[in-house]
Amino acid sequence: MKFSNWQELKDACMGCQNCPLGATRTNLVFGTGNENAEVLFVGEGPGENEDLQGEPFVGRGGKLLDKYLEAIDLSRDKNIYIANMVKCRPPHNRDPKPEEQEECIKWLREQFRLLRPKIIVCLGRISAQKLISPDFKVTKQHGEFFEKGGVLMMGTFHPAALLRNPNQKPAALEDFIKLRDKIEEVCDHTYDV
Ligand code: URA
Repeated sequence: MKFSNWQELKDACMGCQNCPLGATRTNLVFGTGNENAEVLFVGEGPGENEDLQGEPFVGRGGKLLDKYLEAIDLSRDKNIYIANMVKCRPPHNRDPKPEEQEECIKWLREQFRLLRPKIIVCLGRISAQKLISPDFKVTKQHGEFFEKGGVLMMGTFHPAALLRNPNQKPAALEDFIKLRDKIEEVCDHTYDV
């Protein structure tokens, strides 16, 4: 797969039936945001609301995520891109299976190839373990930056985990403040818009 623009990639992805999750989805959730963003956020996979609306992070967790983004002058409508490890909802919100992730990461790789982000933020364990390191521990390593192939990667708490454990919210805010500092250090235009 090699796509030269976002529309071609999106058109191909929207019809995907490469794993069993395609058969049970209402909508595929491709991703959203600025297609020239320097910062890419990667979640786990669509939940019920996302499956119904075809947009990532539109439920309660998404509203919370938007607050953290706003705190450091980021917005999905303006200067970041948001995607998920898997594009179709796993039944009953179970974790995506390794083979589903392996299949679907091909689409994420193409998104990455078109975007060429400087920073990737992994929201939660599933994306951090797949993209940063298989033994990544969110509670221990959140907010740390790792360099991989010229891209800076950071893992932080999944918004749904913050809704379950509000005591982790101050630590999550610190991660976002570290992210803002890193953006100011390495990005060219994220804060220009
Ligand atoms: N959780 C995720 O990881 N991604 C979404 O898009 C929604 C909820």
